[in-house]
Amino acid sequence: ENRPIPEPGPNEVLLKMHSVGICGSDVHYWQNGRIGDFIVKKPMVLGHEASGTVIKVGSSVTHLKPGDRVAIEPGAPRDIDEFCKIGRYNLSPTIFFCATPPDDGNLCRYYAHNANFCYKLPDNVTFEEGALIEPLSVGIHACRRGGVTLGSKVLICGAGPIGLVCLLVAKMMGAAQVAITDLSASRLEKAKEIGADFPIQIKKETPKDVACVVQGLLNCMPDITVECSGAEASIQSGIYATRSGGTLVLVGLGPEMVHIPIVNAAVREVDIKGIFRYCNTWPMAISMLASRRVNVKPLVTHRFPLEKALEAFETTRKGQGVKVMLKCDPNDQNP
Ligand SMILES: *[C@@H]1O[C@H](CO)[C@@H](O)[C@H](O)[C@H]1NC(C)=O
Repeated sequence: ENRPIPEPGPNEVLLKMHSVGICGSDVHYWQNGRIGDFIVKKPMVLGHEASGTVIKVGSSVTHLKPGDRVAIEPGAPRDIDEFCKIGRYNLSPTIFFCATPPDDGNLCRYYAHNANFCYKLPDNVTFEEGALIEPLSVGIHACRRGGVTLGSKVLICGAGPIGLVCLLVAKMMGAAQVAITDLSASRLEKAKEIGADFPIQIKKETPKDVACVVQGLLNCMPDITVECSGAEASIQSGIYATRSGGTLVLVGLGPEMVHIPIVNAAVREVDIKGIFRYCNTWPMAISMLASRRVNVKPLVTHRFPLEKALEAFETTRKGQGVKVMLKCDPNDQNP
């Protein structure tokens, strides 16, 4: 649908959008109209994994100028509240977030965003890499919360797009070995291609059996488990698998209520932590991309021009490929 080109506010920049990745949550809003308590009540623009070029700056913006290529952090706090003050602005209840109702996303040709949450990309970082900073940030935040560090042994449950970014980040943060589970052989093939040490295909094993397999392959229990599937059995495996004193990070979101061996976690001091999106990740992600310390390019498996958005969403819904990119600039469909 055609919409007016927005006028940037004093603290905003107007962007000509270039690349927007499709996230599972975009597909979920499209198909179900809600995620938990976030309910779509009026038409909403999707998209929040994005990059583009500044074409106009608001009157108070000094750090960006027309022509700058930027990656967009979709969450921009509205208030300097208690969470913002301690640097955990992702927890601010009034935060603006692209494509979380009622806030519009940026899957469009022109979009205005808070300039402080637009980050200039060096010439050697592509627009698609810029857009992939958003899912990469989920991996950075999850691995930080889990305490992944030099020599960590890590288990990742689920080899979808988020499991794969957690794998990339765990390796770049110094993990010695990473095991990753999934039901799908093709997803595990991709995980292997981008650096998984032990891809583990789950068939009919019980959660305790899965924990044993992981321990056998890593030669020890993992210090950190990053659960990216949200499936009950996988959370159970994650608890049993994690070493005593270690951390289980819950990234995947499934049913509201799940049955888990909480006593097993309690008596072995396995900390169970959640994550909500991310905070303070864009500058470090840009440094890692510019220095070629992390390669996110293999994650992009499909590209569609914006006019073929429906086809792109169908491809994502069917679980084909890893990351589907929409190309919003008819004159530049390059990566
Ligand atoms: C990419 O560009 C940045 C900024 O200009 C520079 O510091 C970095 O060394 C470059 N990276 C590579 C791999 O050339």
